[in-house]
Amino acid sequence: MSNTVKRTHHCGELTRDQDGQTVTLMGWVHGRRDHGGVLFIDVRDRFGVTQLVFDVESDQAIHAQANELRNEFVIAATGQVRFRPEESVNPLITTGEIEIRVDVLDVLNRANTPPFLIEDDSQATEALRLKHRYLDLRRPPMQRLLALRHDVTYLTRQFLHERRFLEIETPILTKSTPEGARDYLVPSRVNQGAFFALPQSPQLFKQILMVGGADRYFQIARCFRDEDLRLDRQPEFTQIDLEMSFVERDDVMNLTEELLRLACKDAAGVSLPSPFPRLTYQEALSRYGTDKPDRRFGLELHDLNEVAKHVEFKVFRDTVEQGGQVSGLVVTGGADIARNQIDRLIDVAKGFGAKGLAWVKVTEGWGLESAIAKFLNAELLQRALPDAGPGDLLLFVADKPVVTYDVLGRLRSYLGVELELIDHDKWEPVWVTDFPMFEYDVAEQRHVALHHPFTSPRTDDLAGLDSDPLRVHAQAYDVVLNGFEVGGGSIRIHRSDLQHKVFNLLGISKEAAQEKFGFLLDALEYGAPPHGGIALGLDRLVMLLGKAESIREVIPFPKTQKVQCLMTEAPSDVGPTQLKELGVKLDVEI
Ligand code: AMO
Ligand code: AMP
Repeated sequence: MSNTVKRTHHCGELTRDQDGQTVTLMGWVHGRRDHGGVLFIDVRDRFGVTQLVFDVESDQAIHAQANELRNEFVIAATGQVRFRPEESVNPLITTGEIEIRVDVLDVLNRANTPPFLIEDDSQATEALRLKHRYLDLRRPPMQRLLALRHDVTYLTRQFLHERRFLEIETPILTKSTPEGARDYLVPSRVNQGAFFALPQSPQLFKQILMVGGADRYFQIARCFRDEDLRLDRQPEFTQIDLEMSFVERDDVMNLTEELLRLACKDAAGVSLPSPFPRLTYQEALSRYGTDKPDRRFGLELHDLNEVAKHVEFKVFRDTVEQGGQVSGLVVTGGADIARNQIDRLIDVAKGFGAKGLAWVKVTEGWGLESAIAKFLNAELLQRALPDAGPGDLLLFVADKPVVTYDVLGRLRSYLGVELELIDHDKWEPVWVTDFPMFEYDVAEQRHVALHHPFTSPRTDDLAGLDSDPLRVHAQAYDVVLNGFEVGGGSIRIHRSDLQHKVFNLLGISKEAAQEKFGFLLDALEYGAPPHGGIALGLDRLVMLLGKAESIREVIPFPKTQKVQCLMTEAPSDVGPTQLKELGVKLDVEI
């Protein structure tokens, strides 16, 4: 490459306006079409594709040179912009009206034949794409997702900066934090036998920053959790993490809404409502069977305990008598569903953990049709289900409330997809509030925190901490978008007496609390302001806005389901010298 060659434009830039100009483009060979004597080469960079023309008649040498180009060669091409003939105009791309007649061609680098084509809809397996992620990232949809992620991050920084938040970094090598997942540990060479933990979130540090007078903190924070992976879960992910002093629940919720509305609109053209609707945890469970409701479609759950009490069907009556829950779904028009399809639904429900799935079809004049019809009561059902009618299929689950909700919630999602009830152009955010502070863990025989143990109880529930902890609500809030939890936060405990009391209820002894969170407890003794905050899952948000299939698509270098990076082949063996230095002995065969 001659030293004087400089890129003048990128590959998505040139239009009729530059007609006649001499320009230099640099990029990758995207494709070639040989029209006998005239060779068309598309050159691609992040910004687009431009057509280069090499005509054997006008310049035989350069035509011969271009003939050697192969896909993914890196080139610099200098030439004149000119209109394309009318019939070869491509209205689908910005550069579609022009082409460049190249005078000087430099090959900046050659490339092996790529293992898959760099195209919008890649047919390559995900494993192959991840192994050659540098090639995968060249694909335009991946470039768009990288840009979308940047835009959301950039808008977030701008928004929070304007509201006087400070972006502050917190340690990556730190002490185990209690978000509930397993920690990633890092052995200390200097302090042999001791381990750092990678942060599951900056939770404790951001609270300490409030005690340190930062007032408003944020961080685009990397978090690490060793937990089972799913399409919306990675072991290493990013939070938009923030914390505010002297605020109440609504201050944090309103600010978060404003941020989400702005980021979604400006980065992806997605309009979110103002305000976001709110559901209590209990409402979310009883209407959607989950604390992450997808409100892009109806098919809500109906509480049928009152009906169940008064019918002969023993499963229903017994369930209610034993404090269980009978709920149902009304599948509009579902009476047409064939018997073997219903059997399939029963299997699906059992797969979700149901003991059974009772069903009945509603016939003309509100008759009931099914094996258990004679044990039910059409009149009671009709009254309890005003939206149901002839032609519908009713599905019921009777079990402990957690099971009934979980099964019907998952069945609702399943049917949403199966019956194509979901409007994919809809955006439905919702706040879920008033979570219980504690759940009782039967296996461990103790209370566990539903969020984290620094979440403040609702002030009107404080008395209940002594009498009935399971009835105490937390000042916690989750924000859900289209069925995905995209954020969660709370007002925190800022007084050490209350923090001690909550630890106590969680079965964490004074000594254990001091050992694990002593620094926080100490800090609370030195004038901690009231504070609260939230963390948004950046990856999930970008996944939704980019309509990506999984969170892996929006993370440039993700891990597979088996927690491996196929490109670097991490994690890997480190060899005996390094282990010895760290004072670590392996107890596994490698
Ligand atoms: P929480 O644990 O709810 O709260 O996490 C906040 C948000 O982070 C996202 N998220 C994840 N995204 C991808 N992969 C994962 N493994 C993963 N785990 C969580 C979710 C979730 O809503 N410190 C508290 C926040 C606070 O109280 O301010 C916390 O970490 O979108
Ligand atoms: P059984 O009396 O077990 O033959 O069940 C009769 C019908 O009730 C079958 O259609 C079962 O699928 C259904 N069924 C059984 N247990 C439950 C349950 N816990 N909830 C809902 N339906 C059930």
